[in-house]
Amino acid sequence: MSAPDAFYITTPIYYVNDVPHIGHAYTTLACDAIARFMRLDGRRVHFLTGTDEHGQKVEKAAREAGMDPKAFTDRVSERFRELVRVMDYSPDDFIRTTEDRHVRAVQALWTRMAENGWIYLGKYAGWYSVRDEAYYAESELVDGRAPTGAPVEWVEEPSYFFRLSAFRDRLLRLYAERPDFVGPATRFNEVVSFVRQGLQDLSISRTTFRWGVPVPGDPDHVIYVWVDALTNYISALGYPDVDGELFRTFWPADVHVIGKDILRFHAVYWPAFLLAADLEPPRRVFAHGWWTNEGQKISKSLGNVIDPHALVRRYGLDQTRYYLLREVPFGQDGDFRHESMVRRINHELANDYGNLVQRVLTMIRRYCDGRVPAPGELAADDEALLARAHGCLDAMRRHMREQALHRALDEVFEVIGEANRYVDAQAPWTLRRRDPKRAATVLWTLAETIRHLAILTRPFMPASSARILDLLAVPAAERDFRALGPGGRTLRPGTALPEPTPVFPRHREEPA
Ligand code: MSP
Repeated sequence: MSAPDAFYITTPIYYVNDVPHIGHAYTTLACDAIARFMRLDGRRVHFLTGTDEHGQKVEKAAREAGMDPKAFTDRVSERFRELVRVMDYSPDDFIRTTEDRHVRAVQALWTRMAENGWIYLGKYAGWYSVRDEAYYAESELVDGRAPTGAPVEWVEEPSYFFRLSAFRDRLLRLYAERPDFVGPATRFNEVVSFVRQGLQDLSISRTTFRWGVPVPGDPDHVIYVWVDALTNYISALGYPDVDGELFRTFWPADVHVIGKDILRFHAVYWPAFLLAADLEPPRRVFAHGWWTNEGQKISKSLGNVIDPHALVRRYGLDQTRYYLLREVPFGQDGDFRHESMVRRINHELANDYGNLVQRVLTMIRRYCDGRVPAPGELAADDEALLARAHGCLDAMRRHMREQALHRALDEVFEVIGEANRYVDAQAPWTLRRRDPKRAATVLWTLAETIRHLAILTRPFMPASSARILDLLAVPAAERDFRALGPGGRTLRPGTALPEPTPVFPRHREEPA
């Protein structure tokens, strides 16, 4: 059982057959925002990402590139590490399935499942899709292709099998006991009905290619890439050393975040493998939706693949992070649209959030000598705004627990809206002549609200939020969630503030 303050979150590990695209960037981004949120909330976080480097699909890509698979995977894996820097992700570990620590863990898991009697040798004859790295039953094929549209090939070879069929009832019991095992709820229903129909034993080794982890004691067989890949979640914790610090602290994982296309592997096969090896299943699997590009399915052949580096160059890093997390309710499919990106950058970030900060700080500069003003007695309106700012964290916590990142952001933007209405209603620019003390109280209330907002947006827009906190001269040690709310810190009157500069510029198209 993991430590009570621990929080373990994982991304899928990405196939290195090709360079990163928006789908990869999106999953890791969501995990990053959740990981940062939990860290600021005082949790001991372990955030894992990495690359899935074995299997036929990667071997084939290496061959097509005219490279040895190891050299090829070294090169492509590096592109995923680079994305970590470019997108400002904060993983605690980056695992590659070609590392020794991982290979050892995969063989140990296999050995344990075999010793427990869950693996037997047989012969596989059926369909396989290299693109999906998945087996398909004849009845699943649609017009001679996988249900995903991927081509399939007929495979006939000796193979080890995992007794998945024997896990049906245990899995159904697990789902019944844990109504939050899979999110969103609609996906959970899919999983349960799939398992209810009955499960077939799963072929878990291949003999017709070599790029993978050898089966212990039978090196003619290579372990099926999904057994290999899923194990990353525990090999990164030092498995098979289950008494080690990392494993004891962090297993079972709090949440595996994945795309909807790989739900079956995570919510059916993975818990079955773990149960077969006497390990606990993860607490939760959350499946997000897929992005399209201006209404079109994203595909290499259509040439409309979205490169995350290009997004960051064109729109800005925090703008991209914000758009991807706010535009689509996390868990649903979404459509990437330039027009809607620009609207969000200009309206929500530049006008609503950015202008609020710039206006308030400029007034403090002009009317209060560039120092945090000293508040007088608070009026009901001031209290009401502060109460909204103070209450935001709890509301966000509830949403973040369910990976409802868009709702968490909605909460922040409600407070931003409230603060903008308050500035207009209080009009400190006229108050300052009539009642300078009252103007100081209003500006202090606003500065405090902005301090809350900037700390609360840190998980989503780390660099811009840090700039706002710099403009408020908030010390580094006072930027986590303990500094929020009535019992937290406040800005100290008299503190000198730097000259304000806009944090969220409007979007301007580069001239073509
Ligand atoms: N290697 C496996 C995962 C193993 S995890 C033990 C894999 N890799 S992948 O690189 O093909 O895909 C990784 C993730 O990217 C998946 O979660 C998938 O859903 C996501 N996406 C790929 N294209 C996508 C979109 N167009 N939109 C959103 N996410 C998409 O699967």
